[in-house]
Amino acid sequence: MVMDKLEELRQRKQEVALGGGVDRIKQQHITGKLTARERIELLFDDNTFVELDAFVKHRGNNFGLDKATIPAEGVVTGYGFVDGRVVYAFSQDFTVVGGSLGEMHANKICKVLDYALKVGAPVVGLNDSGGARIQEGVDALSGYGKIFYKNTMASGVIPQITAIMGPCAGGAVYSPALNDFIFMVDQTSKMFITGPQVIKTVTGEEVTAETLGGAMTHNGISGVAQFFEQTDETCINEIKRLLTFLPSNNLETAPLLKTEDDANRIIEAFDTIIPKNPNKPYDIKEIIHEIADNGDFMEYQEHFAKNIVTGFIRLNGQSIGVVANQPKVLAGCLDISASDKAARFIRTCDCYNIPLLNLVDVPGFLPGSKQEYDGIIRHGAKMLYAYSEATVPKVTMILRKAYGGAYLAMCCKELGADMVMAWPTAQIAVMGASGAAEIIFRKEIEAAKDSNAKREEIIKAYEEEFYTPYKAAERGFVDDVIEPSVSRVRLIDAFNMLAPKRESRPGKKHGNIPL
Ligand code: HXC
Repeated sequence: MVMDKLEELRQRKQEVALGGGVDRIKQQHITGKLTARERIELLFDDNTFVELDAFVKHRGNNFGLDKATIPAEGVVTGYGFVDGRVVYAFSQDFTVVGGSLGEMHANKICKVLDYALKVGAPVVGLNDSGGARIQEGVDALSGYGKIFYKNTMASGVIPQITAIMGPCAGGAVYSPALNDFIFMVDQTSKMFITGPQVIKTVTGEEVTAETLGGAMTHNGISGVAQFFEQTDETCINEIKRLLTFLPSNNLETAPLLKTEDDANRIIEAFDTIIPKNPNKPYDIKEIIHEIADNGDFMEYQEHFAKNIVTGFIRLNGQSIGVVANQPKVLAGCLDISASDKAARFIRTCDCYNIPLLNLVDVPGFLPGSKQEYDGIIRHGAKMLYAYSEATVPKVTMILRKAYGGAYLAMCCKELGADMVMAWPTAQIAVMGASGAAEIIFRKEIEAAKDSNAKREEIIKAYEEEFYTPYKAAERGFVDDVIEPSVSRVRLIDAFNMLAPKRESRPGKKHGNIPL
């Protein structure tokens, strides 16, 4: 008798584990995708995943749903260990009614979000779904609504990471959008509010699904996604890598990882890395890699707003968020997209207690009517807000240009930088020399016999006066001017010193960041 019961349990579990069946699993593989359960296997440490709600059933009875068997309700949910730390996950099963989301499918996801919030563990959502289960009508919509609400409640408390590993249409895109991080897989993943067919009917526009909402579209153009991956396997490995930079929740700090990289490592190359010609670019990523422990840099939004570089490194084992101007792209100017990217990253780091390193070489905000009409004032203000609001340790290192509002926006002393260091090549000024000369000495230049010579003379005088870090250091806006070769040593020292930092803000319901 007992054996019968055991046999029944095993059989039930086997049926659930088979999802949509062998043929559909084969089809999933043919399209280059892993199944929901294979993805879960890859994510978690061996034999640590505990499945919840495998026997949950839908309650739909329209359009033949009453007769449909939907194993595990089309989504595998549960918890386990990733690198020894508890993580919750859900993985939608496209082999089962296209992974579509009905009432009980949504309830399973909500349970995972509730449990994760209760114990303070990250949630990883692996999305592969045709969206709202059409047969369930408003019950499916209600399911999405509940998930959006819980995503918002968990925001800033536990890291929420999404991978888009298949189609993601309609309401299905908004839960990912409410998460902290979105990964997409090349060719197999799509995100859009309305698909190509509807667009064609409504507006006449013809566009392929890949162009409309593929992985590179959202990594490179819209900025909706932060990570672009080639395959399901690399996607899941990168999620695990990202987790190593994050704490489990907002009351903890990220794990300290032992490193063999010398905290006293001198980087001689930095003494000559800045070109003599101030208009000549260099690659800021080389500097980030050199500073980081073992050159390990996990870039955030690598393909979007490349004029600013953001991502995670470790300094002597401590997780650090880097925000750096990229002189190679748009001369490192701040524009709308760069401001949005940086502000979001700064807030992500701040809510999860990850200190910020700001590397500055910025000639200003990008000028032009396009930027003004699209609201550079509103978007640029996000950076000022995000830096001012952030209470994590903030260290700013000025490498070369730091002009005007963009100097302030890259976390100057007044926005709360706890330590500002400058290289001797730093130029901290209200604006570039030629622009300044034309404004404040226009009359003298026009009146001069040789206007060009006069302009050159004024520019040279301006450069000598302001193109140094020493004026700012005289006022204490720069705490120290350092030899570039000791940058790593000094940064490790600064972040060590700042580790116990505690700073509070006036009590309020919530701030009102410009959106
Ligand atoms: C019910 C669905 C489904 C859905 C797919 N299926 N999407 N069942 N509800 N939303 C089922 C199919 O009927 C099919 O079942 C199986 O899943 C596999 O789907 P296929 O179409 O055969 O697969 P494929 O050709 O790969 O195309 C995948 C797809 C397509 C691109 C996702 O199925 C599709 O366009 N689905 C609808 C997408 C959509 O518009 N969703 C609703 C969005 S509105 P059988 O048994 O025939 O194999 C929305 C509103 C929420 O989400 C708003 C909240 C705020």
